[in-house]
Amino acid sequence: MSKLLAVIGGTGLTTLKNLTIIKREVVQTPYGEPSAPLARGEIDGKGILFLPRHGYGHTIPPHKINYRANIWALKEAGATDVIAVAAVGGIRSDMQAMKIVVPDQIVDYTYSRINTFFEEGLTQVTHIDFTHPYCQSLREILINSCRALDVSAATQATYAATQGPRLESAAEIKKLEKDGCDIVGMTGMPEASLARELELCYSCLGVVANLAAGKSDEILTMDMIEQNLNLAMENVRQILAHSIKSFHQ
Ligand code: HPA
Repeated sequence: MSKLLAVIGGTGLTTLKNLTIIKREVVQTPYGEPSAPLARGEIDGKGILFLPRHGYGHTIPPHKINYRANIWALKEAGATDVIAVAAVGGIRSDMQAMKIVVPDQIVDYTYSRINTFFEEGLTQVTHIDFTHPYCQSLREILINSCRALDVSAATQATYAATQGPRLESAAEIKKLEKDGCDIVGMTGMPEASLARELELCYSCLGVVANLAAGKSDEILTMDMIEQNLNLAMENVRQILAHSIKSFHQ
């Protein structure tokens, strides 16, 4: 079976600059509409799919994203592998602004999100294995791309998925740190487990947008988060371009 890579863009990455779009596909799913039409295109002649998680206008907040429709649409369009780009807050001391992170673990603190495809019409109750929530082969492609580009990246990190849309309190971040979490974001779950349910190879390319609440004296603002993300996106684009090339080798 031929493989097809999809990129889910997060905050700061609603478009892929070097993507030549061949067509935009409006995909209907049994779960409603995905965040946006899928862009089917090419980077350096290599086919990929792109979906902006928050919509092209960045208008859908994390708790309102139709994660099931997004993952279903990618699978339906032929994706076998998914790189999910995600802005995160840094908890561990080396997770400074603009740091690139390829996490290897997740703790899910989200609530009230529909988090499974396996709830109706089942012939058998299904429990997916989630010991290693991210797909190792795609993690390796991302990690090797960072090395090749001389971009320093953290390759072992636990992602705390919080509900949002508000940022956390300082005490919540302390608690996440005690739980062993190194970075915090609002969109990592149920995206990762839904991808596993549909047998997609899914991994996350995280970008630290800010120090998590209470980790600096600064008040967190959207301006600061956006500024840091804009600065880091050049690295992200290069890592993606390199990973897409490696994926096709
Ligand atoms: N917390 C949760 N999600 C985030 C943060 C944060 O500090 N920064 C970017 N996404």
